[in-house]
Order: sequence, then structure tokens, then C-alpha cells
Amino acid sequence: MRAHIWLSLLVLLSRAALAAPPPAVDPAMLDLADRSRCLTCHDIDETVRGPAWRDVAKRYRGKPEVEEALVNKVHEGGGGAWGNDYMSANKRVGLDNIRVLVRWILSLP
Ligand code: HEC
Repeated sequence: MRAHIWLSLLVLLSRAALAAPPPAVDPAMLDLADRSRCLTCHDIDETVRGPAWRDVAKRYRGKPEVEEALVNKVHEGGGGAWGNDYMSANKRVGLDNIRVLVRWILSLP
């Protein structure tokens, strides 16, 4: 009888673990991305005009040397890496904020 109760509890707990949502996205970073107008073309999980940011993180995982080039590309604008579309320049966001955003994007699980 006891064992049965424990077993049910275990099943319930593992179900809860399986249903856990994906890792939360830092709301402060999402806010910065929103204020920087990145979200008009990007989403964390879905490709919009620009690639999904989790795909960007996946492509460059383990290649920290790309960070500076990506910062410059977001700043100046550019294309050729994901498709036929072109990212317009984001100079008003400023290099410091862009660097913070790119580091965060690259760290997305
Ligand atoms: C006008 C639409 C638009 C806006 C606004 C925009 N992007 Fe993009 N972004 C794109 C497109 C399109 C690409 C794909 C370019 C390519 O294929 O090389 C891209 C690519 C990227 C990449 C990957 C670049 C590579 O070479 O792999 C990063 C990182 C990125 N964007 C970050 C940002 C950030 C951060 C902002 C806000 C400061 C931003 N983007 C704003 C359209 C946009």
C-alpha cells in the first residue's frame, strides 16, 4: 500500500518535470531588444525577417571569436549568412548595447 503511494508520487513528480517550460528568457534583455527595435525583425524562437535568435546561438556555439564580427554586422547592417534578406544598420542602438545584446543572443540555450 505504502509503496503504491510513493510510486504515484514519483509518477506525478516526473510528469511535472517533463511539463516544465523551456528556460525562461531574461525579461530585461528582451526589453532592451524591444527598445532597440530588434524585435521588429527577430524573435527568440521563430524566424521572422531575421533568423530566430536560438538558431543564431546554435550556429555559433563554441565560437566566441565571432562575437566582434556580429557586433559590427548588427551595427553596420549586412546579409549573406541566413538567406537573401539584409539586416539594415542599427547605429542608433550604439555599440555598447549591441555588444550586450549579441553576447546574450549567443548565450541562449
Ligand atoms: C530590418 C530588420 C532587422 C532588424 C531591425 C534587426 N535585424 Fe538582425 N537580422 C536581420 C536579417 C534579415 C538577418 C539575416 C542577415 C544575413 O542573412 O546575413 C539578421 C541577422 C542577425 C544576426 C546574425 C548575423 C549573422 O551573420 O549570423 C544577429 C546576431 C542579429 N541579426 C541581431 C540583431 C540585433 C541585436 C538587432 C537589434 C539591435 C537586430 N538584429 C535588428 C534583420 C534585422
